[in-house]
Amino acid sequence: MNLLKTVKSDTMPEHYKLMSKAEMANRVMEIKQQLGEDLFIPCHHYQKDEVVPFADAIGDSLQLAQIAASNKQAKHIVFCGVHFMAETADMLTTNEQMVTLPDMRAGCSMADMADIHQLTNAWPILQNLFGDTILPVTYINSTAAIKSFVGEYGGTTVTSSNAATIVAWALEQKERIFFLPDQHLGRNTAFELGIPLDAMAIWDPIKNKLEYEGNLEDCKVILWKGYCSVHQHFTVKNIKTIRKNSPNMRIIVHPECTHEVVSLADDFGSTKKIVTEISNAAPGTEWAIGTEANLVGRIIQENPDKKIASLNPFMCPCMTMNRIDLPHLLWTLESIQNNEKRNQIKVDEQTTKFALKALERMLQLS
Ligand code: 13P
Ligand code: SF4
Repeated sequence: MNLLKTVKSDTMPEHYKLMSKAEMANRVMEIKQQLGEDLFIPCHHYQKDEVVPFADAIGDSLQLAQIAASNKQAKHIVFCGVHFMAETADMLTTNEQMVTLPDMRAGCSMADMADIHQLTNAWPILQNLFGDTILPVTYINSTAAIKSFVGEYGGTTVTSSNAATIVAWALEQKERIFFLPDQHLGRNTAFELGIPLDAMAIWDPIKNKLEYEGNLEDCKVILWKGYCSVHQHFTVKNIKTIRKNSPNMRIIVHPECTHEVVSLADDFGSTKKIVTEISNAAPGTEWAIGTEANLVGRIIQENPDKKIASLNPFMCPCMTMNRIDLPHLLWTLESIQNNEKRNQIKVDEQTTKFALKALERMLQLS
């Protein structure tokens, strides 16, 4: 029986904004202690510094999915990340576990670029062009509905840390893949696996049209025309400036950056890879990082023995990740303490059924 009361308002009451940081931090710690193992707070690397100290686990998208899949005891999972991550956690946990997103406005603009209706329109057109030769593969940065479609058609999810392994597997299953929604991760990964750029087509979901200049038989990868609005701010010009002014700096970027940027960088990888590579580097080394601003700021603080800067001097915050702040975290925890059901992320059973297939395939292959 669910004892939680339903509350209508989903807007955080004003008084939280008037509390001091110290007061909020004390309350959060008190509630964490009271709830003990019933509460679990996973946190993505892009979260704000004011939230990170309260995390029970911090990681990249793959780590957060693995952690959700293995945690069976927490009744309340308060997800400090964005909507698709919380949906993923909901699907990987049991029905008895409740996943909450402290601010429902914390979406991902890239995930929003692939709507399930656009995908169901695209699929028959692509089947007409290519026959039954396409395996759909979706970046975990996508809605549960997209994951479900992909799972139903035998495909899988990928994250930035397992993309090469999973895409290599996918290309063994079918002649070509349909990669959603991030064209850049898809292109960078396929290129890493030796697929030439002229074997990659673009699917434009707005025009509902394939963009490809070569022979259709040569097309190995169809890239959904989506991108990350944060990572598009790292440019070739930024790389040239660093090479000219700071020739000793190694440049590491996230694979959501364009192919031109990734090709000119010294290395690329998931947020976990960026964190690990820099923390393992020798003291005195110099780094320019092409990823989200909160993480770059934290890496700078945690590595005082190195010279570190953002690849883009204006820094690039993810505004939606930033919606999760200390007031929203406290509000959510107090709601749980008061048995108020609020900001719950619940994916319906039918969607979950096939989306789980896509997620489980990925977890097995990782
Ligand atoms: P990671 O899986 O590398 O943490 O990336 C998630 C993300 O949203 C990057 O923009
Ligand atoms: Fe989405 Fe980009 Fe933000 Fe990552 S950084 S959560 S891909 S908008």
